[in-house]
Amino acid sequence: MKRKIIIDCDPGQDDAIALLLAFAASDALDLLGITCVAGNVGLPLTLRNALKLRELVGRHDVPVFAGCPRPILQRLETAEHVHGETGLDGVDLPEPSFGADRRHAVDFLIKTCRSAGLNGLTLCPVGPMTNIATALVMAPDIGANIAEIAFMGGAALGPGNITPAAEFNVFVDPHAARIVLESGVRTTMFGLDVTHKALATPARRAAIDALDTPSGRAASQILAYYDRTDVDKYGDAGAPLHDPCVIAYLLAPELFDGRDCHTAVSTEDGPALGRTVVDWWGRSEALPNCRVITEIDANGFFDLLTERLGQV
Ligand code: BDR
Ligand code: CA
Repeated sequence: MKRKIIIDCDPGQDDAIALLLAFAASDALDLLGITCVAGNVGLPLTLRNALKLRELVGRHDVPVFAGCPRPILQRLETAEHVHGETGLDGVDLPEPSFGADRRHAVDFLIKTCRSAGLNGLTLCPVGPMTNIATALVMAPDIGANIAEIAFMGGAALGPGNITPAAEFNVFVDPHAARIVLESGVRTTMFGLDVTHKALATPARRAAIDALDTPSGRAASQILAYYDRTDVDKYGDAGAPLHDPCVIAYLLAPELFDGRDCHTAVSTEDGPALGRTVVDWWGRSEALPNCRVITEIDANGFFDLLTERLGQV
């Protein structure tokens, strides 16, 4: 049976590739909807980018929703320095022929979770978790129907990428991340520990550049732009492809490994704001609430991505 999922995102070049991967895996994933949130850029742009990506692959059967325009408590911090003014600079995408669904993303999340049945669907947040947290606050009963929240965010063992301590998605809305991690729902974290091992090296990019499909051509342009900014920043052999890790995990969990740990989020103002505090060595009494992924078969991941993007 296909796994029912909702992708909650702020596209974003790496979000875009996550969406293209999910669209290309319609035999394995039942993508019930795409909910957008403010993050990399403001909500009107993340929504527009999601609509353009849907247009590219002609998947108008997948509804797209606008969600929360700002974090729960903090002012919105955006990342045009990484993603460009549009949030998705560097790629030519078609103008959307259809708009977003008029319902609010949080209403859609609640309604869909309620009708999914016990452990009936998986949520995949790859931006700040404002929409997911708001849904869990408004309707705590939905927790029982969520099999798993597999999210991109945080950093367990290494430094942050937006501050010395914090990864961008958790930093933008640390209160939302905390609500999700304290919700009691099964969570799986794809933080910088693992995503910085999923590097889009020149050889891996060349394989994607050779694809002759709408998704492949778009991914090639996206990675050319994305590589330029992140390679300068980190000095690695390629840019870390964060968000697609979540979708690849759903398709091929054997590519990933990690550890069950208690994971807290620092919501105090100060240098640790947005830090995910992962109890890697079991130092506290608190029980694990998160599977923290740190390992990836990066070649297997890029093989999967390339094969899928070559199909749609
Ligand atoms: C995360 O922040 C965003 O800029 C990316 O889309 C990704 O979700 C990485 O820290
Ligand atoms: Ca993202």
